[in-house]
Amino acid sequence: MTSELKQLAAQLPKAELHIHIEGSLEPAMMFELAARNDVTLPYPDVESITKAYNFNCLQDFLDLYYQGMSVLQTKQDFFDLTWAYLLRCHQQNVVHCEIFFDPQGHTERDVGFEVFMGGICKALDKAESELGISSKLIMCFLRHLDEQSALDTLDAANPYLDRIAAVGLDSSERGHPPRLFQNVFARAAGLGLKRVAHAGEEGPPDYVYEALDLLQVDRIDHGNRSLEDEELVKRLVAAKMPLTVCPQSNLRLAVVGDMSDHPIREMLALGLNACVNSDDPAYFGGYMNENYNALIDATGLTHDEIFQLTINGFESSFLSPSEKQAHLDRINAMR
Ligand code: HPA
Ligand code: ZN
Repeated sequence: MTSELKQLAAQLPKAELHIHIEGSLEPAMMFELAARNDVTLPYPDVESITKAYNFNCLQDFLDLYYQGMSVLQTKQDFFDLTWAYLLRCHQQNVVHCEIFFDPQGHTERDVGFEVFMGGICKALDKAESELGISSKLIMCFLRHLDEQSALDTLDAANPYLDRIAAVGLDSSERGHPPRLFQNVFARAAGLGLKRVAHAGEEGPPDYVYEALDLLQVDRIDHGNRSLEDEELVKRLVAAKMPLTVCPQSNLRLAVVGDMSDHPIREMLALGLNACVNSDDPAYFGGYMNENYNALIDATGLTHDEIFQLTINGFESSFLSPSEKQAHLDRINAMR
């Protein structure tokens, strides 16, 4: 039974809406790029990197995530990183992806927009033509830095706005509420960009309200802690607000204690518009299908719920209505 459900999840066309490209840096590639760029990593081998991925909270992970991305230095590095992720998408029937990137994690190391945008976009274009994978880019602001740094980042992105669909907000959530980024989100809206924000991963339901009311977001990334507030749940349901949920991330960052306690089924039962995503697949134990498999093994996810989650992924994307419909038709033909 579970193997049939896993086969179904693997075969369905899927959209991934919550993936940090820097979080797809596999230990083997980290090691390879460190050698190529003469960076000294504090690990003797690939195995010891993997062993270090033991996190008690978001910040534990972020410390290693920023350290890891220091090996990304050239256009070729960003191409290799992005292409490797897109090949995984192809293997797993992820046919559309909306990818986060963290400019400030690179510009603060003197790696400029032309370097990471050049490498990432080259891989996205190749995937569109050779693999038939469509994609969009979401530029995230690091919330542990101040709003002025985010505004400067938005200015620096100006020549690349035709390649950027949306802005996002990520990094250390607690103590860095969405209200601190109202001006930069308003400016992004004025430039015609969509808006998303990580909220309610570790932060309280208030941060989800702020993302909705003050940042005017089109999606909430994670959103798990919304479940603590009944009024908020009603509002999210009424607005069909997408929640980009990341099960293996939630487990590895102790947002849930055990995968069997993951609230994805409860979310669907409440009428929330949740979908499944991998977040930082190289750090959290897998890509899209591994996340479905973990839910199937631990939560009793059903055939209908798997369909609903994949449909929600496309419905919640920034694709046009006709593009969405084409994907939904393919999914419905598999029922
Ligand atoms: N939360 C916040 N910031 C992040 C994450 C996350 O899960 N992954 C990469 N940056
Ligand atoms: Zn994330």
